[in-house]
Amino acid sequence: MDQIGERKNEHLDICLEKNVDFSSLRGNGFDSYEFQYDALPEINKNSISLETEFLGKKLSAPLMIGSMTGGTQKAQTINERLARASEKCQIPMALGSQRKMLEDPSVRATYCVKEKAPNLPLLFGNIGAVQLNYGLEVSHIHKLIEEVEADAFYFHLNPLQESIQPEGDTDFSHLLSKLKELIPQIKVPVFIKEVGAGISEVTAKKIKTLGVFGVETGGRGGTSWAYIESQRSKSEIKKKVGELFSQWGLSTAESIQICHKILNDKIVIASGGIRNGIEVAKALVLGASLVAIAHPFLIAAEKSTDCVVEEIERMKEELKTLMFVVGAKNIKELKKKKLCKK
Ligand SMILES: Cc1cc2nc3c(=O)[nH]c(=O)nc-3n(C[C@H](O)[C@H](O)[C@H](O)COP(=O)(O)O)c2cc1C
Repeated sequence: MDQIGERKNEHLDICLEKNVDFSSLRGNGFDSYEFQYDALPEINKNSISLETEFLGKKLSAPLMIGSMTGGTQKAQTINERLARASEKCQIPMALGSQRKMLEDPSVRATYCVKEKAPNLPLLFGNIGAVQLNYGLEVSHIHKLIEEVEADAFYFHLNPLQESIQPEGDTDFSHLLSKLKELIPQIKVPVFIKEVGAGISEVTAKKIKTLGVFGVETGGRGGTSWAYIESQRSKSEIKKKVGELFSQWGLSTAESIQICHKILNDKIVIASGGIRNGIEVAKALVLGASLVAIAHPFLIAAEKSTDCVVEEIERMKEELKTLMFVVGAKNIKELKKKKLCKK
């Protein structure tokens, strides 16, 4: 297997075997906020609807399966299970970086999940923006979108990860101007995302100058890519640097509010350590339109499609319960509720 394929499998193995999810440390920022409990909610729980409109599609809930993988046999099994769960639950799914597809056309099937789940409501493609400094061109992106029939496309920003990654690509110069020129040529809605260190005010202001549909926060508080790459590194120094930065960046709760304020005409997708329906509800009230979850769905997908469906249904029931006890009949009403700062 080549370098990218090996790396993809190592990422999956480390994510499945080691404790790379820092959500138990409560660093996602949501604990600072609470809803007011309403013991007289004046609604019938059975009439609560989680239905959400997103990019013209009707979703069963404001949830999505976050960008993770593709490119190897193991990734194919995971992607197929995620896609079937996404189809069954009618929530969107994002692919992991499609870079490997450009270098090795034989891995196409590991990404083409719509062939297995044709009624999947929305599929996001994905590639690292930094690849624009390493030969990526607009024609490649058209190809990536067409081959998998992506309905939207993510460019991920991950300078911290690339910096710790043993074979990382760290030339992040001139990316803003390159993205500015390229994004209008892409035929599907384009989103920019981080991968676990958050989108801060300074970054959001730069993103505002781009013609994107929206952002995904990829905030601090869940999966840590600095930590994952530190575990792959053979250099003692890099290991230490990765560990130092493993809880670095902007919390998801802060990043949502910053993106909502600065990118007020854009869609904000919340992600980064969101692990239950109460946090989903808080993310929506703070300004997100949708919530993406990655690591917990990987753990479930290693077992089966049904385990992924169960995780999604658990979060939906938690969200519905929260909506009942704050008196919100639908997502629009929920988003109007106030959160108290503790
Ligand atoms: C196994 C795994 C692989 C990932 N690969 C990618 C990727 O290729 N591209 C990307 O934009 N984000 C990638 N991510 C980051 C997630 O999309 C998400 O931003 C991050 O994990 C935070 O969400 P979480 O705490 O719910 O896992 C990956 C996450 C996991 C767990």
